[in-house]
Amino acid sequence: MGSCLRRSAQSLAAAELHAKRAPIMKPNTTPPKTYRVKSFGCQMNVYDGERMAELLAEKGITEAPEGEDADLVVLNTCHIREKAAEKIYSDIGRLTKGKTQKKAPMIAVAGCVAQAEGEEIMARAPAVSMVVGPQAYHRLPDMLDKAVQGQRVTDTDMPAIAKFDSLPQRKRRSPTAFLTVQEGCDKFCTYCVVPYTRGAEISRPFNHLIAEAHKLVEAGAREITLLGQNVNAWAGEDDAGRAIGLAGLIKALAKVDGLERIRYTTSHPNDMDDALIAAHGEVDKLMPYLHLPVQSGNDRVLKAMNRSHTAESYLRLLERFREARPDIALSGDFIVGFPGETEAEFEDTLKIVDEVRYSQAFSFKYSPRPGTPAASMDGQIAKDVMDDRLQRLQERLNRDQYAFNKALVGKTCGVLIERKGKHAGQWLGKSPWLTSVWFAEENGGEAAIGDLVTLELAEAGPNSLRGVVREVVSA
Ligand code: SAH
Ligand code: SF4
Ligand code: F3S
Repeated sequence: MGSCLRRSAQSLAAAELHAKRAPIMKPNTTPPKTYRVKSFGCQMNVYDGERMAELLAEKGITEAPEGEDADLVVLNTCHIREKAAEKIYSDIGRLTKGKTQKKAPMIAVAGCVAQAEGEEIMARAPAVSMVVGPQAYHRLPDMLDKAVQGQRVTDTDMPAIAKFDSLPQRKRRSPTAFLTVQEGCDKFCTYCVVPYTRGAEISRPFNHLIAEAHKLVEAGAREITLLGQNVNAWAGEDDAGRAIGLAGLIKALAKVDGLERIRYTTSHPNDMDDALIAAHGEVDKLMPYLHLPVQSGNDRVLKAMNRSHTAESYLRLLERFREARPDIALSGDFIVGFPGETEAEFEDTLKIVDEVRYSQAFSFKYSPRPGTPAASMDGQIAKDVMDDRLQRLQERLNRDQYAFNKALVGKTCGVLIERKGKHAGQWLGKSPWLTSVWFAEENGGEAAIGDLVTLELAEAGPNSLRGVVREVVSA
């Protein structure tokens, strides 16, 4: 696993050259008292960051206060696009620039870049003490013991389930929480690094997940988002030994007292089953929102991407969700400028957008990732063509998001307060459709973070709505 992503002899030479030219800063070996974890990737990357923070806290290291330097910095990286990977070298530079070995923080590089390019990081960045992959971070405390003795340690093993078994209990206090239920990917879309950085698909056991959900709720969570690279591929056995899929897990979680809202992300069209679609009409706590990436609206491109669904089969699937839950908000991911994509093929992507009318979506320029099949395909698309396509796609997606928000005006819905808004005197939360909603504090009486308020949606902007409080249900 991952061998095709190992660096080439050429890039090794480049890395060594770079290492020779850069000032050699040895890692700081002072035992750290404070830490900071910086997460750069997807929601699962954020979840991993939280769990690494919990591990460090168990070791008696405390989180550095906002704005203060930390003794240990964990850069929790993402490899999905070029910019994400390059960022770590500039971050390491910023952390060490103009500092002596004793003044610079101890640095650990975690996450998906660590998995794919661990050796290269060690060669290119001498100030780094630890490189730890996404399936090995439960061993971070042991690595730290070695790092303070002056060793530089790399751990990129992939024992996924073992990781979950040896993590401490959840303690995170927040009204919304992530819970990884499934990890890894066997789909091998030709552009994507995730199957190499996260390994094979695994599902965490049912009883572990129910236990973790209880802990999160005890710590104050009222909404849990179930995470997986292919979350709807989750499979397990319930307490009675019956084989269940994600819908069964959601139904069991819906019985947890105090948990008000359940979401899940990200799904793959090929792992969708009837029970999950039906659950959207049956389980009140399951929010009316589905993130289902399509990537392209053209069947030739989809085939070249190894997506194994067509534009038509994707649209049919969404229709079934809308039948089960007519108000469901739909979201997706798109890639423009996949190798060989013609103007006409790109226009098929615009057509699918016009057909679906997404409530929000994520769109990206294709980024060739080393070692993935698409990186060496003919017909790589010029940057200006990609820029133009992305802009045209985003215009439509923004149009639809605004239209979706406007169509909500006049509705009354629950909003879970997550934090203070951008401006003074505002509370901010999410509607059931995952749109951001703010309301004036003075309008909410005693309302506080974690409260579920009933709001009438009064005004829509492109990215959020303003609500007026009708009722507050305290946490
Ligand atoms: N199933 C995954 C997808 C992870 S990647 C999940 O759990 O979210 C998130 C999105 O990044 C993909 O859906 C795709 O749209 C985009 N992406 C992946 N590889 C990419 C690449 N090489 N270039 C541009 N975008 C990419
Ligand atoms: Fe990547 Fe495709 Fe797997 Fe999603 S399904 S993680 S895009 S390989
Ligand atoms: Fe990035 Fe890894 Fe997530 S590559 S998107 S952090 S699975």
